[in-house]
Amino acid sequence: MPGAARPAVRASGVKLAVRDLTMCYENGHTALSNLNLSVSAGEMVVVLGSNGSGKSTFMKCVVGLNRPTGGSVKVAGRDLAALSGEALRRARLPLALISQHANLVKRRSVLANVCCGALGRHRTLATALGRLPRKEIEPALGYLDEVGLLHLARQRAGTLSGGQAQRVAVARALAQRPDVLLADEPVASLDPEAADEVMRLLRRLATEDGLAVVCVLHQPELAARYADRLVGLRSGLLEFDQPASEVSSQQIASLYIAEAS
Ligand SMILES: Nc1ncnc2c1ncn2[C@@H]1O[C@H](COP(=O)(O)OP(=O)(O)O)[C@@H](O)[C@H]1O
Ligand SMILES: [Mg+2]
Repeated sequence: MPGAARPAVRASGVKLAVRDLTMCYENGHTALSNLNLSVSAGEMVVVLGSNGSGKSTFMKCVVGLNRPTGGSVKVAGRDLAALSGEALRRARLPLALISQHANLVKRRSVLANVCCGALGRHRTLATALGRLPRKEIEPALGYLDEVGLLHLARQRAGTLSGGQAQRVAVARALAQRPDVLLADEPVASLDPEAADEVMRLLRRLATEDGLAVVCVLHQPELAARYADRLVGLRSGLLEFDQPASEVSSQQIASLYIAEAS
């Protein structure tokens, strides 16, 4: 059986700690205000909120695609704001982000796409030129096995269905060996069955492999089914952060009611 054994369950404890996170864009728009959120190993948190409530801004601030204008992001206890250059790059390696679209390289094989996730851990001339490190192939097969797509390893990525492509994107994220997996609307372009499959996968990665998972969703019923905790964002403010079983339908509905102007 090719592929690596399932990765060891990660150490427990808080993996992502966000304190007073604020993001004011250059045009003066404040998209996030003093947001606090902690996510532990093995936990799955789903973020809900209407369009424009700041969900993607939050994800981008955490992974460093946005530079927050205030507050701190700690990953595995290290404050990213205190780091720069190579130290910052390394401190961000435990963070992997998947998005609505899998963004695979369509003409390359599924396996090659998964191996790409490992490139951040290799900084050689060969990898800079796009060559895949041979020693990453075996683990990449393991990640494909983990997402149930080992049989498609040699297939061109462009031939996959939307649901398969998103599971390959998850395998590519796993090749980064993250502690924290961020997923920004990962099922928004999938049919209900494929969406459920991706959500089951994310849930399993939290429960069995100990990843801290933060997932943005637009489907409250999927959120309630899979999340440990629900976080509600409204106009860049945290409305609630509670165990999923304690969040009422009124609380969820309140996120989607337009503000009085
Ligand atoms: N680069 C940007 N410059 C200015 N405003 C932005 C930028 N990106 C997002 N915004 C604004 O910030 C708010 C939150 O956006 P976003 O985080 O994308 O929301 P969501 O993901 O919840 O739909 C929106 O009002 C959006 O228009
Ligand atoms: Mg968004």
